Amino acid sequence: MPRVPTKLVTWEEIVDWSRGLANIIKKSGWRPDVIVAVARGGYVPARLLCDFLGVENLLSIQSQHWTEAAKAEERAILRFPYVVDMRDKRILIVDDIVDTGDTLITAEKFIRENWYPLDVKKAALQWISSVAKIKPDYYYIEVKEWVWFQYPWTRLEDVTSFIKRMISEEAKNGRIAWTFNDIVSSFREWYGIDVDKIYYEDALENLIEMGFLDRKDNLYIIKL
Ligand code: ADE
Repeated sequence: MPRVPTKLVTWEEIVDWSRGLANIIKKSGWRPDVIVAVARGGYVPARLLCDFLGVENLLSIQSQHWTEAAKAEERAILRFPYVVDMRDKRILIVDDIVDTGDTLITAEKFIRENWYPLDVKKAALQWISSVAKIKPDYYYIEVKEWVWFQYPWTRLEDVTSFIKRMISEEAKNGRIAWTFNDIVSSFREWYGIDVDKIYYEDALENLIEMGFLDRKDNLYIIKL
């Protein structure tokens, strides 16, 4: 059994889901004048929606999560809260996934209060209905049980942090040295997914550069 419920998402699925989402938006009869991608997850879906909906105006805002002092809960804030005049524009805010919903809630509030648009709607490829505080106006897939979706644009970042977590946990049981093949087979067991070899190689290079691992002969050794 994988330790972290994870699903690998391919580029082909992203294109299919974005096309499906565009068709749902078209059928609703509502058309955006401007698409706002929420960085960074919303970039690829937003760009594909521009193509499938024939929208030329694409801009972006970036959301960042941070933990308030002495609070377990994370809050979403905007990194570069610039102001533009959108008085006569219908805006579609796009993200990859609505998980807690905090990102889209924060983005919509900021845009309504500062850009004065004619209208704002929210879209995402996926909506985790069991945990999200909001339901986006448009979504392609409703996810009922929380899963980590391994999107193609965070593959290296995710594989790096997944390997780091796996090796840290196994170090608690006294395991400190791994061959490349050990890491790959444990990764498959832990996460129930597999990625191209180059991602494991690059992730291990990242972990060496970060000072988390050492390589000696053919072994990767955790630096304690
Ligand atoms: N970003 C926020 N929640 C996520 C999830 N469940 N899978 C992938 N990316 C996410």
